[in-house]
Amino acid sequence: MKGLILSGGKGTRMRPITHTAAKQLLPVANKPILFYAVEALIAAGISDLGIIISPETGPDVRAVVGDGTRWGIKITYIVQDEPKGLAHAVKTARPFLQDDPFVMYLGDNLIKDGVGPLVTRFNQGKADAFILLREVANPSSFGVAQLDASGRILCLEEKPAKPKSNLALVGVYLFNKNIHKAIDEIQPSRRGELEITDAIQRLIDTKFHVDSHILTSWWLDTGKKDDMLEANRVVLDEMTEVAMEGQIDEATRISGRVHIGKGSILKNCIVRGPAVIGKDCQLEDSYVGPFTSIGDGARVSHAEIEHSILRENTQIRDYHGRIVDSLIGVNVELTRSQTKPVAYRLMLGDDSKVEVV
Ligand code: TTP
Repeated sequence: MKGLILSGGKGTRMRPITHTAAKQLLPVANKPILFYAVEALIAAGISDLGIIISPETGPDVRAVVGDGTRWGIKITYIVQDEPKGLAHAVKTARPFLQDDPFVMYLGDNLIKDGVGPLVTRFNQGKADAFILLREVANPSSFGVAQLDASGRILCLEEKPAKPKSNLALVGVYLFNKNIHKAIDEIQPSRRGELEITDAIQRLIDTKFHVDSHILTSWWLDTGKKDDMLEANRVVLDEMTEVAMEGQIDEATRISGRVHIGKGSILKNCIVRGPAVIGKDCQLEDSYVGPFTSIGDGARVSHAEIEHSILRENTQIRDYHGRIVDSLIGVNVELTRSQTKPVAYRLMLGDDSKVEVV
């Protein structure tokens, strides 16, 4: 069994952050989202991984993920010239996949229970494709499946205006070689993409066996800022490990599950977990509230931060205010010259400079 992680695409919904960074490298609890996908596949016993990358962000993905030696596996990078759809990505990966069965995993998705049991079920069963479904409140943003009373899939539709059910396709699929023929037989959709839903529908129409499983545990698709914050909240909420590798002074108070990395120094701070503070950070006279991740090398003084992601080397100095529900890119500098407390919701791309006066 091989693994194929899709880490190309445009990431338009996450601009401006994705102008300079691949969305799959954005951190959840200070770890790139993509690593959760790689580790989920490894935990399912897969050691031969292909990663689809785009020409724009591919070099960054390669540099951060590497060739797999850190996990003791093999990673092959496959460049998809343009993001022409999930089925197009599979087509591009055909030389890597050959005729082997594979798990396709969207590189910006997180699934609580991993994929091990699904791989076992697929290997033991007779299905040509296996899809995961999850009830969602807004099905028209997803691929949607309609099932009959016995749970058999009747049809699939990509982002339908009038969804026939509230069951969305989760970003993990298992296929055998028959998917390739189905992909060869479909045409690009109205939005110009080769849709994996159309290819699976083609399998159904040509009497191949498509099985499904309805997930009840959480699944997160981190396409937008609020999805990222939700992913960060859920992962931090489940964090059991508590580590204090940095230094805190006597005035600093830490409560709940908090991870503070090596070389970080906190002076006169209150930290309420669950929260993660990376390596070599300096925090002074500040409050870090629940569901916050602060990247390596950050500098924060006179600020209150809650339910937010601050990326590496961000500087928030003498801020005298609250930052909530925010996603802040790498190397951002945020300063403020007034002392009256206010709150802002922010989405700041890498290298931004903001002065609130
Ligand atoms: P999407 O989130 O559907 O697409 P996108 O990344 O282009 O984002 P946006 O809609 O904000 O512009 O893609 C799901 C995952 O699959 C994501 O990790 C990107 C990846 N992908 C590819 O690798 N190739 C593709 O052709 C497409 C469409 C997506």
